[in-house]
Amino acid sequence: MQKVYFDNAATTEVRSEVIAKMVSVLKDDFGNPSSIHGYGRSAKNHIEQTRKNIANYLGVKSSEIIFTSGGTEADNLVINSAVRDLGVKHIITSKIEHHAVLHTVQEIESCNAIKVSYVAIDAKGSIDYEHLESLLSSSEEKTLVSLMHINNEVGTILDIERVGKLCNIYKALFHSDMVQSIGHYDVDLSKLHIDFTAVSAHKFHGPKGVGFAYIRKNSGLKPLIFGGEQERGYRAGTESVHNIVGMDEALRLSYENLQEEKAYIEDLKQYFIDTLKNTIEGVKFNASCSDLDRSTYTLINVCIPLSNEKSGILLFHLDINGIACSKGSACQSGSSKGSHVLTEILSEEDLQKPSIRFSFSKFNTKKEVDYVVEILKKFIES
Ligand SMILES: Cc1ncc(COP(=O)(O)O)c(C=O)c1O
Repeated sequence: MQKVYFDNAATTEVRSEVIAKMVSVLKDDFGNPSSIHGYGRSAKNHIEQTRKNIANYLGVKSSEIIFTSGGTEADNLVINSAVRDLGVKHIITSKIEHHAVLHTVQEIESCNAIKVSYVAIDAKGSIDYEHLESLLSSSEEKTLVSLMHINNEVGTILDIERVGKLCNIYKALFHSDMVQSIGHYDVDLSKLHIDFTAVSAHKFHGPKGVGFAYIRKNSGLKPLIFGGEQERGYRAGTESVHNIVGMDEALRLSYENLQEEKAYIEDLKQYFIDTLKNTIEGVKFNASCSDLDRSTYTLINVCIPLSNEKSGILLFHLDINGIACSKGSACQSGSSKGSHVLTEILSEEDLQKPSIRFSFSKFNTKKEVDYVVEILKKFIES
């Protein structure tokens, strides 16, 4: 059976070069980076070289990069410490953030007396920038804005420059989850008014369980995990050296091949959109995902014209045909929990239909697109 992996926003295949680097570190550089002997120093060198490389890619200082177990931990570190240590009393975010942000904010809201405001979202999945400005201008408390760069479900791109400028004008701190953008877009943090970001290696062909937080120098952020002096006390615990080195190699290859791979995937996305439009009558593209200027090239989120009885088995049907993708619908039968993102964006009518997110990488092909669309078509017509 043909197998097709169209779930790259969930996680990506690890590049073979990355695996080779990780295996060599696991075999030959197994020292504890905190040890002062040669084994330890060699492991430590790997970590510090990675930190420098990442800082170079992002245009920041290496001391501003803190390794974490991934995007979720980085989001938690930033948001929790901003409230606990920086005196933040008001968080402005949106209802279409990843749960790593949303649930963290909701947890703090339920425990502390902080105020949370949600910036309005339009049907295209974009934030209302004027509403953001009015929330900022009327905020009397110390404020943290947390808005993701690229939405992981519908792919909308935030105008991060504009948000950074607004935060700067109104003296608010700005955190942006960049889990879906770093490794796919060239981001120069030195040109943005941004205080914190969260990044995860497994979204750009690196290993799972590793990522980092960018924490602007002198921001005053403090650790959440206590123990040893690793990460200069910011994040205790023996570093996962092989994962950190794997992330380094994955990011290096992503940026080295960025333009070429972006052009390839963009073309694939456009082909997927055109093929779906030409083959399946009534298919809809959620938010602005069919607009390559307003959404990431790495995914589409489509609303499929299907009867209610068939909706519940659509993903199962794709799965038994070897196709991996993600559900993106709020009210599919048989599912109690739908997408909190689509709930904010789609009409009641479209929420009754199944939506699917297909997300791409350089390993996908047009032949795979043809196969998936054919399977979908046959299922709809059956
Ligand atoms: C936008 C976004 N933020 C955060 C995360 C969580 O990252 P991690 O899996 O590294 O914890 C994800 C992963 O799906 C994501 O897409």
